[in-house]
Amino acid sequence: MKTLLITGGTSGIGEGLAKYYLAAGNRVIIVSRNKGDLHNAIYLQADLSLASENYRIIENIQRTYGAIDGLILCAVLQTARKDALITQEGLEFTFALQYLSRYILSNQLAFNDDSFILNVATPGINSPINFDDLEYRRKFNSVKANANANRLNDLLGAGFKRKGVRYILYNPMAVRTTGARSVFANPLMRIFLRVVHRLVGHEVDEIVNRIVKVLQESSSQSFSAYRLSKPVDLSMKTFDPQRGKHLEKITKKVLSNVREL
Ligand SMILES: NC(=O)c1ccc[n+]([C@@H]2O[C@H](COP(=O)([O-])OP(=O)(O)OC[C@H]3O[C@@H](n4cnc5c(N)ncnc54)[C@H](OP(=O)(O)O)[C@@H]3O)[C@@H](O)[C@H]2O)c1
Repeated sequence: MKTLLITGGTSGIGEGLAKYYLAAGNRVIIVSRNKGDLHNAIYLQADLSLASENYRIIENIQRTYGAIDGLILCAVLQTARKDALITQEGLEFTFALQYLSRYILSNQLAFNDDSFILNVATPGINSPINFDDLEYRRKFNSVKANANANRLNDLLGAGFKRKGVRYILYNPMAVRTTGARSVFANPLMRIFLRVVHRLVGHEVDEIVNRIVKVLQESSSQSFSAYRLSKPVDLSMKTFDPQRGKHLEKITKKVLSNVREL
């Protein structure tokens, strides 16, 4: 029996993966703000947009369950927002939940040998990172802030190095989840998204099956990235190691400022 931690496991892809791993007889710990109703799952409630909550969860898991065998990162809030939302720790919410939480959990949880981290984001897509406004506060737009956080996750995955832990970035493209339907506020864009989902969208179960295969296929690689079932070219500039180092430096500074609060 393996122990797996799934963030955002109460909905969409995270919940689909939780069902799969529970059915296979594993111990599944789910972290999200609300509790779900999967039989046998262990629910820990936390707002992962707060660094302090990530540290609390890490401490709790280590004390109660010890080292884990897999971390699956799916927590996200895709709902359209017109304005930046600043957390109690003074950080923009999308940056904090979609990137910083993943950075903290990836780097600070204790893992057994031969473990994996699956970061469900959007590798394989080119979009700029604004290093002058990493949190995307100025000229805030929730779709762009989301894309920006995904690029930060590309650099997180590419630069990740921990002995015995492999890192997989996964892009599920368009999946028919509740969260994905709330991405746009504009009614026309909502209709457009509904059409896209109907034409090219995927069901959660199909994506879960693809992810399971990808995890098997990539098992000998310390870092890999996939778009649906196709490997992403790791020489893309979105995985640039220099920019990854720069990001890590800034991230450590952000976290040390938060700790001083
Ligand atoms: N669906 C798509 O089309 C699509 C496309 C590309 C990439 N992705 C990526 O795939 C992953 C899963 O997406 P999805 O559409 O399956 O998600 P979803 O259905 O929107 O579910 C989001 C999950 O995140 C949790 N969550 C939200 N805010 C949280 C917070 N502050 N702290 C802790 N947990 C929080 C939610 O639970 P609570 O509300 O209980 O907290 C829920 O379990 C995400 O990383 C997303 O970026 C999805």
